[in-house]
Amino acid sequence: MDKTIELVNGVKDIHAMPSVIVKALNIMKKPTASMKELGDIVMYDQSLTIKILALVNSAYYGFSQQISSISIALSLLGMVKVKNIIVAVAMKPMMSNQGDKELWKHSMRVAAGCEYLANVTKIMDSDEAFIAGFVHDVGKLVLHMSNEKLYTKVSAAVNDGADIIDAEHKYFDSDHVKTGSLLAKRWQLPILLANIISYHHNPSLSSIPVPCNLVCLVDKLVQENYNPNNLDKDFIKTLGIDFADIDDLKNTIIQKADLLISELA
Ligand SMILES: [Fe+2]
Ligand SMILES: [Fe+2]
Repeated sequence: MDKTIELVNGVKDIHAMPSVIVKALNIMKKPTASMKELGDIVMYDQSLTIKILALVNSAYYGFSQQISSISIALSLLGMVKVKNIIVAVAMKPMMSNQGDKELWKHSMRVAAGCEYLANVTKIMDSDEAFIAGFVHDVGKLVLHMSNEKLYTKVSAAVNDGADIIDAEHKYFDSDHVKTGSLLAKRWQLPILLANIISYHHNPSLSSIPVPCNLVCLVDKLVQENYNPNNLDKDFIKTLGIDFADIDDLKNTIIQKADLLISELA
């Protein structure tokens, strides 16, 4: 059997998406989707209610008044943002307990960074950018869950300067792009998300390169071993960003992302 299929089949817990996400995504698929239906999901989940209230009152969104009603919170945030928050909160236990503790944090940083950069550059919808950034590395979950110890070897190799895809191949005979692409198919994720999962390390091969470029850049900016000299200036130009602004952009992204992480943690 193909190694990627074997790895994905081997991690049973990941075969089904958390049910709250399935419910939220199904509601959003309906043309008549209403805020009330989405609100019902939130209200049945106490920890989600608390987190959404904390978030809507946080500096991340910067609303001026104190909000204590969940229905007001939902109408201020809007349906798509609420769906994104549901996904981020619901994936957290899977990502941080069974997977790598840093994976949820990294995914949130890329999500918040993509949302911000999409807002600034207007090259894609910022709510779509958030969720694209959040799921880009979902394939790492499969590798972590199938052999956590082995994945620490991958992380060590990456810290020593190895390319992540090469290191994963060395230890797993597959990589997080392949496992993520297969997972995206099984979870029936929308085409944009599947594409970002498949091409975020190689955006020029994607049929929709712009969103892939955006995720790829933010992913690089939030890495521990970030070095502006390793960034391709022409690539940054394609996103309409001036290379001289890149360090400021990185700092703003980390600041914004950490605000969000501290509210949802
Ligand atoms: Fe990745
Ligand atoms: Fe990443």
